Amino acid sequence: MNVLVTGGAGYIGSHTCVELLESGYGVVVIDNLCNSNAESLNRVQKLTGKTLKFYEGDVRDVALLRKIFAENEIGCVIHFAGLKAVGESVAIPWKYYDNNLNSTLVLTKVMEEVGMKNIIFSSSATVYTADNEMPLRETSRTGNCTNPYGWTKYMTEQILSGMAFADKEWGIVLLRYFNPIGAHESGDIGEDPRGIPNNLMPYITQVAVGRREFLSVYGNDYDTHDGTGVRDYIHVVDLAKGHVAAVKYVAEHKGCEVFNLGTGTGYSVLHMVKAFNEANGLELPYKIVDRRPGDIATCYADPAKSAEVLGWKAEKNLMDMCRDSWNWQRKNPAGYGK
Ligand code: NAD
Ligand code: UFG
Repeated sequence: MNVLVTGGAGYIGSHTCVELLESGYGVVVIDNLCNSNAESLNRVQKLTGKTLKFYEGDVRDVALLRKIFAENEIGCVIHFAGLKAVGESVAIPWKYYDNNLNSTLVLTKVMEEVGMKNIIFSSSATVYTADNEMPLRETSRTGNCTNPYGWTKYMTEQILSGMAFADKEWGIVLLRYFNPIGAHESGDIGEDPRGIPNNLMPYITQVAVGRREFLSVYGNDYDTHDGTGVRDYIHVVDLAKGHVAAVKYVAEHKGCEVFNLGTGTGYSVLHMVKAFNEANGLELPYKIVDRRPGDIATCYADPAKSAEVLGWKAEKNLMDMCRDSWNWQRKNPAGYGK
């Protein structure tokens, strides 16, 4: 079966292409490269020894999507394509709503036309409200998003679940990711953010490789064991495998189901720094600075439903995540070389 992977050249998409190819699926990618480099797909093919088909273009381009569905027999879509920088979404909200909502609307319109109604969507733990008890379950409260990026994820979940309710032929899986880090163990593909990284691990690896002077730890006065923010970090290869499990699930189940993809364990920022140092024999310079607006103290998943229903569980540990993140950055100090 062929899987159409939108945003397949990106961080999570490229790792998912590897896992799909290694599980015997054909892979067709559409990506406009607005936040990625086609070199990632060359490396996916080298790594797996298999080929994939790549269309460079925008998911909002209805003619291109019709062409892709006409030229390929697609059995499932994984929809990664989207803009994801929280701060940028506050500065340019229209661009985020246009890109993230219209991509889903155009994609599902064409899927409806061709009668292929299996889709897996990249949602986020950001859809949960900040006042929930931990760990977060799929039934925890959602909404009250604090930025346009979060609203696009929330709204897309509403759009897709409404479609599944109205038309029983849709098979829809909403995957709520926690904090993906790490890289393929080869170090050939990994996260390659443009500009100054927003997220913790790429910032850490860029400090370690000498591209940044020190890590700013955003606040040490949270209500956590050491005062720094706690998150559920998950290895991107585990996350990618969760998508393969979802492809199998959606082939056999109609309706709309939501799953957390996390490990169930939260680590603080200072714990992450210590783990990174230990895993790699480094001493990362850091400074405690003010809190970052919009951050919450603690966020981690209850991944039980994914284990029970998808038969998926994260297998890699924090040392694997720290080692693989650094291995990628060390081998590719300038990322894919943009
Ligand atoms: P990424 O930026 O590396 O990948 C997204 C890809 O989509 C990029 O290759 C980009 O060029 C492409 N793209 C964006 N808009 C497009 C469009 N209109 N048409 C075609 N291609 C387009 O990001 P990622 O970390 O791999 O994230 C993948 C998905 O997972 C995103 O939807 C993101 O919001 C979601 N997500 C990511 C995280 C995270 O921490 N990385 C957490 C939760 C959810
Ligand atoms: N942090 C620092 N210094 C940095 C970067 C981050 O101390 O330079 C801290 C943050 O304050 C937070 C933790 O490290 O406590 C993790 O921060 P990230 O930016 O890596 O991740 P977030 O949990 O803030 O956000 C991520 C994604 C969002 C998504 C959210 C919930 O980036 O897109 O998870 O799923 F919305």
